[in-house]
Amino acid sequence: MTHPLASRFPSRAALALCLGLLAVGLETAFAADATLPPKSEINPAAGTGATFHPPPESEIPKNEFGKMIKLGRDIMLDTPQYAGKYVGNTLSCVNCHTDAGRMAGSAPLWAAYVNYPAYRSKNKKVNTFEERIQGCFRFSQNGKAPPLGSKTLVALQSYSYWLAKGLPTDEKVAGRGYPDLAAPALPPNYARGKAVYEARCAVCHTASGAGRYVDGKTVFPPLWGDKSFNWGAGMGSYKNAAKFIYANMPYGQSYSLTPQQAWDVAYFMDAHERPQDPRWKGSVAATRAAFHDSKFSLYGETINGKVLGDIGPPKNH
Ligand code: HEC
Ligand code: HEC
Repeated sequence: MTHPLASRFPSRAALALCLGLLAVGLETAFAADATLPPKSEINPAAGTGATFHPPPESEIPKNEFGKMIKLGRDIMLDTPQYAGKYVGNTLSCVNCHTDAGRMAGSAPLWAAYVNYPAYRSKNKKVNTFEERIQGCFRFSQNGKAPPLGSKTLVALQSYSYWLAKGLPTDEKVAGRGYPDLAAPALPPNYARGKAVYEARCAVCHTASGAGRYVDGKTVFPPLWGDKSFNWGAGMGSYKNAAKFIYANMPYGQSYSLTPQQAWDVAYFMDAHERPQDPRWKGSVAATRAAFHDSKFSLYGETINGKVLGDIGPPKNH
């Protein structure tokens, strides 16, 4: 089977380098678990109970609609290239919605599609599917919301609709979002999280969290800093991050962390600086009060002597 990352690499050399890194990581940092299924299949260990299989790419219709579906897939895989004017960082949708939005337990697009329109407490209104995607552009991609009806949103919606073929509308479709994660036995802790990070994550995401790039393309995405998701993003809740990480990271090693390790490393990741929340209210305290009144957000907390989020108004919004 072709490695799921292979189609996205800028060159053979880049692919070789990265598969090499993967191999080094697997050998030195941890023992590979031979029982894990390939990432492009639904992972039965997900505990999601997912049984739905989206259609293979070979079934994308060869007509005008098929072209729009393919554009949606391309935007998922390389968002800066195919939707650059709405992107303010170096992430692509696929970095968080793995296997081009197919993977159960990684907020797959097919499970999302059949659940909209829906009320969201985040913006206190019923959101259409297009509006939900706008949110990921504004926060996760630290960019601008593409206008409703724009080609970018039409393409992503067409791709999601096509992936969901045959799935009934159902609020509880198995595999949606991230699997539940047990509450941590001990309160999440920075020092323990740092140790997990160094042992299990830094090999790919680098010690500084800045990620790795080859020929200007993101190979391993940044977890914090200027080029990552902003303070308003879903991944900025360390509860969401812990659930994502537990089910999906280290890449290719789903469910190999203990729940406690997932909570600790998510806390550590979200205890670093990143771009300002675009809903900025003029001060960290006011922004915290309006949008971060949750124990799972570290925005406005003092960590290592610095107030997180105290970096001035948002740029590029
Ligand atoms: C073997 C390399 C590798 C290791 C080790 C690894 N990751 Fe990842 N990580 C990736 C790749 C590749 C992606 C993007 C997935 C994709 O595009 O399909 C990713 C994506 C992510 C994302 C979402 C994108 C972003 O930038 O926010 C987070 C969060 C994340 N990893 C956290 C972690 C944490 C925490 C660990 C350690 C427990 C870890 N990763 C270990 C390769 C790795
Ligand atoms: C930094 C990580 C990240 C990136 C990049 C990202 N997202 Fe998301 N996305 C999330 C998180 C976290 C959620 C919330 C998942 C949950 O609550 O279960 C989410 C939710 C969604 C949902 C709703 C899922 C559901 O089941 O309701 C859609 C649709 C979506 N994203 C599409 C996109 C698209 C399209 C892109 C690229 C333009 C993108 N996302 C980029 C992290 C990301």
